[in-house]
Amino acid sequence: MTPAFSLSPNVVDLAYVVAAVGFVVGIKALSSPRTARMGIWVSAVGMVVAIAFTLTLAEVERYGLVAVGLALGVVIGIPAARFVRMTAMPQMVALLNGLGGGAAALVALAEFHQFAPLAGRADRDTVIAGLASGLIGSLTFSGSLVAFAKLQELIRGAPIVFGGQQVVNAIVFAGAVLLAVIAGVAEEPLWLAVMVAASLVFGVLLVLPIGGADMPVVVALLNAFSGLSGVATGFVLDNNALIIGGTLVGASGTLLSILMGRAMNRSLTNVLFGAFGAPAAVATAGASDGHSARATTAEDVAVMLAYARRVVFVPGYGLAVAQAQHDLARLAENLAARGVDVKYGIHPVAGRMPGHMNVLLAEANVPYEELYEMERINPELPQTDVAVVVGANDVVNPAARNQPGSPIYGMPIIDVDKSANVVVIKRSLSPGFAGIDNPLFYEQNTAMLFADAKRALEELVAAVKSV
Ligand code: TAP
Repeated sequence: MTPAFSLSPNVVDLAYVVAAVGFVVGIKALSSPRTARMGIWVSAVGMVVAIAFTLTLAEVERYGLVAVGLALGVVIGIPAARFVRMTAMPQMVALLNGLGGGAAALVALAEFHQFAPLAGRADRDTVIAGLASGLIGSLTFSGSLVAFAKLQELIRGAPIVFGGQQVVNAIVFAGAVLLAVIAGVAEEPLWLAVMVAASLVFGVLLVLPIGGADMPVVVALLNAFSGLSGVATGFVLDNNALIIGGTLVGASGTLLSILMGRAMNRSLTNVLFGAFGAPAAVATAGASDGHSARATTAEDVAVMLAYARRVVFVPGYGLAVAQAQHDLARLAENLAARGVDVKYGIHPVAGRMPGHMNVLLAEANVPYEELYEMERINPELPQTDVAVVVGANDVVNPAARNQPGSPIYGMPIIDVDKSANVVVIKRSLSPGFAGIDNPLFYEQNTAMLFADAKRALEELVAAVKSV
């Protein structure tokens, strides 16, 4: 079926400018929880404009197929996004990145096929862009699937390493690039298929040796790759919306990986090749130094909190697991009503994805002015009566500050140990994502409230009321 009408490419390009402005304004708005929801809508409208105007291009012919694709995307995508648990969001993003990269590669390769045999039919730039998209998109697809499987615990999260791994990886990558060159020169689609296969294998090999703790950084990096393959496909199709959109994804994914790495004091090379979290690397320094952790009760903590002047809550991954954000907000409100000065200290990589804690607390309507980023809360902690750590571990581990041998040494942390009293709410003494012990639990001024965060906070709300 051919389109009933088609708009001139100039009009469509003008619409793409509007769409691009939507993407940029939307991304900017995502930088604050206050404007994030609006940002999502602005970007979504930009995307609808881009898709709608693309459909009016003369070269779009098979509307039936497009409709089937859109319907499938809607039927699978909407329920998946609505019902995914907040804690499963990183694997959802991993899957979406993989599909984005895979789709870009498929489109570019399909286009490439149209021109085969190549000689004289497609210009050199289109061929190069098509091959780049095929290579990057394929490795993004398979790498993202491995990231998904690790995060979903379908396969072991720990780094999967073997001798000479980096050499093997380098050879497979070089092989994939070489095959891309051969596929570009030869006229046999077979080479294209072999190149795609090599890229898929490389994607798997790239992610296997990376530990679960580094997966969010890898997911951001794969996100950047999916953007790059989108850009390359944009050049193949000569489509400006795809070029702009892909560039934005590529740039933001790269920046996000760098920023996350910085928040953990890890370089990108260390994340990709350091096999962080492999059994050999996990040096659990003698955290306890002979002391044992002191357990406490909700009643005792309630008294301490009710009579405190300043309380800082430091949430972490466990808060998300327990889905206890509403209970935490309720406890904070009760304390504030008693005249306690309550703040929340937010570590940039607390939880399992950027902004995880902000999203959780926004869900519970915690006022934004009570959220203090790490740099702002740290100077306040020495004057704080009680720091309450709720399901956080690595982000408050003093080993990062004072144990040079520790795998997380150098990572900036929230200095809860500097406050007068520390209460840690978690179920056991087990380590966090980095897999290392936490000396904080054995400090003289630390009391452990061993419980599921939701149950502990419910008990604390009730106990504070009766103080
Ligand atoms: P973690 O260090 O992972 O510790 C979470 C703690 O929550 C665990 O020790 C666990 O102890 C506790 N927990 C689990 N379920 C709970 C429940 N139902 N109730 C109470 N506690 C529960 O978390 P964190 O401090 O937020 O640090 C995040 C980690 O992820 C860091 O290592 C960080 O580098 C890494 N990471 C994060 C990101 C982003 S972007 N956020 C990116 C890359 C890496 P129990 O089992 O004893 O309860």
